[in-house]
Amino acid sequence: MLPTFSSRAFLAPMAGVSDPALRLQCKKMGAGLVVTEFTSIHSIIAKEKQLKENKKTIQEFLEYSEQERPLSVQLFGSDLLALEKAAKIVEPFFDIIDYNMGCPAPHITQQMAGGALLQEVNLTQQIFSTLVNAVKKPVTLKIRLGVTEASKYLFKDIAEIAEDEGIQMITLHPRTVTQGYSGNADWQMIKELKEISNIPIVGNGDITTPEDAKTMIDQTGCDYIMIGRGAMGNPFLFEQINDYLTTGTYKKYTFKDKLDAFFEYLHLTTQYNIKFSNIKSQAMRFTKGMNGGAKLRPKISRTKNLIELEKIMNDAYV
Ligand SMILES: Cc1cc2nc3c(=O)[nH]c(=O)nc-3n(C[C@H](O)[C@H](O)[C@H](O)COP(=O)(O)O)c2cc1C
Repeated sequence: MLPTFSSRAFLAPMAGVSDPALRLQCKKMGAGLVVTEFTSIHSIIAKEKQLKENKKTIQEFLEYSEQERPLSVQLFGSDLLALEKAAKIVEPFFDIIDYNMGCPAPHITQQMAGGALLQEVNLTQQIFSTLVNAVKKPVTLKIRLGVTEASKYLFKDIAEIAEDEGIQMITLHPRTVTQGYSGNADWQMIKELKEISNIPIVGNGDITTPEDAKTMIDQTGCDYIMIGRGAMGNPFLFEQINDYLTTGTYKKYTFKDKLDAFFEYLHLTTQYNIKFSNIKSQAMRFTKGMNGGAKLRPKISRTKNLIELEKIMNDAYV
């Protein structure tokens, strides 16, 4: 059974972005669910072996905190034996196991993973059945429409198979794999998926404001919404969406609030093993839309360590 979600707005899995510090910050600001960055089933197996030898668990590799719960771990990779093994390794630590069938990056699709799987109906069915039988935790799915414009209705077949095999929730990012991030997410497809589904549907794509969130829910009837790029450097969005959905208004945040939020993020990173290059990219995102942000970003990009980065961000307060 799916856990209870405290809000209808979820934070999307984003490689290099949805690290445990940002996830915790978004959770504190009202995200109903947070998901780890996608993780290779093969790297989980290899890491677990290494860690076990040192009497450590996979938590050292897939870092998280208890405050993030309910917490979903996203897996990719289509080797069935490895999938079963990896799912069993992560199961004790996470509340939901999510499977990635949307990633458009060539280095993923070329290994028959991510979005490439949308055209592999038989393999997909085996993947769902393997996952659902391997673990007792709920298994969910994240998909795109199809591979190309010509196959943009594949998601309907996949969703039907998923439901038959016991997948408990589906997130749809309504673009095709070849589209990447171009054009607009086609929210009509979320509506069509919702109409044929008996499990919760999460609508995803192009939500950057509380108004967008409400429009997607109203237009598609989706049960939940998932936000990716709109939440980058902007954890406030979850509180704003929750308030807007319940009261019709929301608090606006200032540039100073954004800088404060960055320093909160920075503080949270100290508990985790997050690469400096990733933290620096997060700093750039927190300055988006900020007065003088464009001038600030090249300076951020030149910083070589946390001390330099903190100084640049502190100077931005004036
Ligand atoms: C930098 C970046 C990394 C992403 N990494 C993942 C990932 O690991 N797993 C996944 O399912 N989707 C990933 N996505 C896709 C997002 O989860 C989401 O589906 C997509 O960005 C559309 O939502 P948005 O318009 O709210 O950003 C990523 C997107 C971005 C921008």
